[in-house]
Amino acid sequence: MIGNQIGLVPSILSADFTRLGEQVREAEAAGAQRIQIDVMDGHFVPNITMGPLVVEAVRRCTKLPLEAHLMITNPQDYIETFAQAGADVIIVHYEVSPHLHRNIQKIKAAGKQVGVALNPSTPVFMLQDLISLIDLVLIMTINPGFGGQELIPETLPKITQARQLVTQRGLSCDIEVDGGINAATIPQVVRAGANLLVAGSAVYNEKETVAQAMNRLREAIVPARS
Ligand code: DX5
Repeated sequence: MIGNQIGLVPSILSADFTRLGEQVREAEAAGAQRIQIDVMDGHFVPNITMGPLVVEAVRRCTKLPLEAHLMITNPQDYIETFAQAGADVIIVHYEVSPHLHRNIQKIKAAGKQVGVALNPSTPVFMLQDLISLIDLVLIMTINPGFGGQELIPETLPKITQARQLVTQRGLSCDIEVDGGINAATIPQVVRAGANLLVAGSAVYNEKETVAQAMNRLREAIVPARS
């Protein structure tokens, strides 16, 4: 966690893939803190998206930290692949990591930051024994698989629970949220304790430029912190 700054993390899932490099650079120019790349295998989630080739391509477009959000059933088999592709943070889902400690060791051995994602139905306390080994907890505020969904309000208390868990232990672990994040929902998630905000359709849409969208999201952060 960088001081108590709140960071915006555009998810390229909603970007225009015919000009992906440009869209990533627009986000960087507009002050993105990182870029999230949503990797889906059509098994863990009902959608198929992108793999290491896209991580490599985005790596060539920006110096920003890249998060590889692995929504795949066998993350243990692809950790090195995404590390070599240029990801800085590798996020595995708790629900498909029966050997989570081993996955954490693999990510650390690859010299990368460890992220663990929790689906809406997975309680935060499942991480209490390994939290000191984790750099980022990703609270899914939607059921993963698609952009443009509404935030599930029942996930808000989990953000606070995760924030309390890391604060009580004196850890500098990031609390990231993903799904339905926009100018209307940002005040709730920031007040609940999130410091990294993943946004897809709120950043990449036809209504406004990336710069306008990012400014609007940033404006929603300020009052949430006062
Ligand atoms: C969905 C992905 C999200 C998605 C968010 O499973 O993990 O990152 O892109 O999209 P929005 O911000 O539109 O809900």
